[in-house]
Amino acid sequence: MRIFESLADIEASKLSADAAYKLLTGCIVPRPIAWITTVSAEGLVNAAPFSAFTFLSNKPPLVGVSIGRKQGRLKDTARNIIGTGEFVINIGTEDALEALHHSADEYEPDESEPEILGIDLHASRTVKPPRIACAPVSLECRLVQQHHFGEYDTCLYVGRVELFRVSGDLLADGKIDSVALRPVARLGGPVYAKLGEIVRQRPVRVSAK
Ligand SMILES: Cc1cc2nc3c(=O)[nH]c(=O)nc-3n(C[C@H](O)[C@H](O)[C@H](O)COP(=O)(O)O)c2cc1C
Repeated sequence: MRIFESLADIEASKLSADAAYKLLTGCIVPRPIAWITTVSAEGLVNAAPFSAFTFLSNKPPLVGVSIGRKQGRLKDTARNIIGTGEFVINIGTEDALEALHHSADEYEPDESEPEILGIDLHASRTVKPPRIACAPVSLECRLVQQHHFGEYDTCLYVGRVELFRVSGDLLADGKIDSVALRPVARLGGPVYAKLGEIVRQRPVRVSAK
């Protein structure tokens, strides 16, 4: 195993927001992507990708997405989540990468990304925002907590998953075949990763007690 000895030490308190962003998004990789659909107060469907995304708890199933601001203003997704308390996290695949990526382009609040990009939508069951039809997994979520961080008021929106919607061919014994899912992950800027070689270790030891 290679040993790393000559390291550049970068003092975090001296970094600008942009410089810290570059370092964080360069080493916290690959990041899974929540392709989020929401509905505005006027009923317009919005779709955008967010890679500051993880699961937080499994009972109840809670997921978190961190959303920054654009020139100090709430992004449409954040405004809609706050306004309606509902959102859908769609898991984008390799086939959908171009549409997923361009749904991050800036549009006016009265423009709908799915409409402009030709992203097909299907009705959800428990929440108003529809799911993205080409996503094999969608999580219907209800907002349960908001946590604000930092000088730019980035917010972690915590959603309780009400309904997991999983394409039948990916599901066996309650498990999702994550290799067949073919998810895409974000590296940085317009650069993404697909699943590469899959490596397996022996199961971790668990105490008998
Ligand atoms: C793959 C990808 C991941 C992104 N992840 C985040 C994120 O985690 N948080 C965030 O605030 N913006 C993120 N963005 C930027 C938003 O998608 C972008 O600001 C978008 O225009 C927001 O759309 P909206 O105003 O319709 O909500 C990401 C962009 C891309 C392409």
